Amino acid sequence: MARIAKSLAIPDQGPESVKTASGSSAISGLARILVERTGIHLDHHRVSRMVVKVSRRMEELSIPSIDGYLRVVQGDASEFQTFVHMMTVNKTNFFREIEHFRILDRFARERLSARPGSRFLAWSAAASTGEEAWTIGMILHESLQAIHARGDFRILGTDINMRVLQAASDGVYTSRAVQGEVPADLLRKYFEKGIGRNEGLYRVHSGLRSRAKFRYFNLMDPSGRPGVQFDAVFLRNVLIYFKPDDVMRAIQNVTASLLPGGMLFLGHCEALPVKIPELEALGHSTFRRVR
Ligand SMILES: C[S@@+](CC[C@H](N)C(=O)[O-])C[C@H]1O[C@@H](n2cnc3c(N)ncnc32)[C@H](O)[C@@H]1O
Repeated sequence: MARIAKSLAIPDQGPESVKTASGSSAISGLARILVERTGIHLDHHRVSRMVVKVSRRMEELSIPSIDGYLRVVQGDASEFQTFVHMMTVNKTNFFREIEHFRILDRFARERLSARPGSRFLAWSAAASTGEEAWTIGMILHESLQAIHARGDFRILGTDINMRVLQAASDGVYTSRAVQGEVPADLLRKYFEKGIGRNEGLYRVHSGLRSRAKFRYFNLMDPSGRPGVQFDAVFLRNVLIYFKPDDVMRAIQNVTASLLPGGMLFLGHCEALPVKIPELEALGHSTFRRVR
């Protein structure tokens, strides 16, 4: 692998500039496919990491040249998914950026009290392995119980990485992933502790699992948008991987699925590149759809 990676020396300025180096137009090709199909833009550092990962994958598949690997990624949907899995950053955790869940709790209580018997719909639009979606589920269940409201909720989790979606849907986490992150009372209430060969694992309780669905959705492609409109959309810690035009595309795609008065949550380090008339900024990277 070191041999392959070394032979694909990367010059200093990222994917555009690597075109002229030996074997490097294929690297540019891979970076281009990734940005065109997913919006994920690789800076120079991440192109270097891509080369290391791709070299490892080429050895697994016994593909001797990076041009050969590029052709496989271009022509084979399953290998494209493997490439996406290698290149996406899936880091997440329960109760990440906790202020958002305090805001969601207040908002859901208001919304459900104002519309007794209604169903609150939430969308985790870059769900990764599901911790965000299940945190939303715990909060919405707690909000409903606190106000003794008639009503219900559903959660949709979407991502472009099919493997993380499978993990999200299984809802099984190690004790390390939950302990210290999920408050002890919520852990007891919303998780089943594994025993025997499942010792050390926790599974999201079936009552919560029955209220969530996970499926593929590419933030760059409006054609796959869910057919319903949501009270709250979480679009967190994914925009940082996109260039401004693609940030706007993703925001417009999810805003179109937000109910008037609904809330949009971006990651704490993320912002709108330009003001969007439909969205009123409320602080903490949260926005309300005003029209
Ligand atoms: C760092 S995780 C964020 C997880 C969660 N939202 C959070 O804040 O903890 C980013 C996720 O965005 C997904 N992603 C990247 N590009 C995407 C796209 N074009 N459409 C949908 N999901 C995408 C990745 O697969 C990854 O699982």
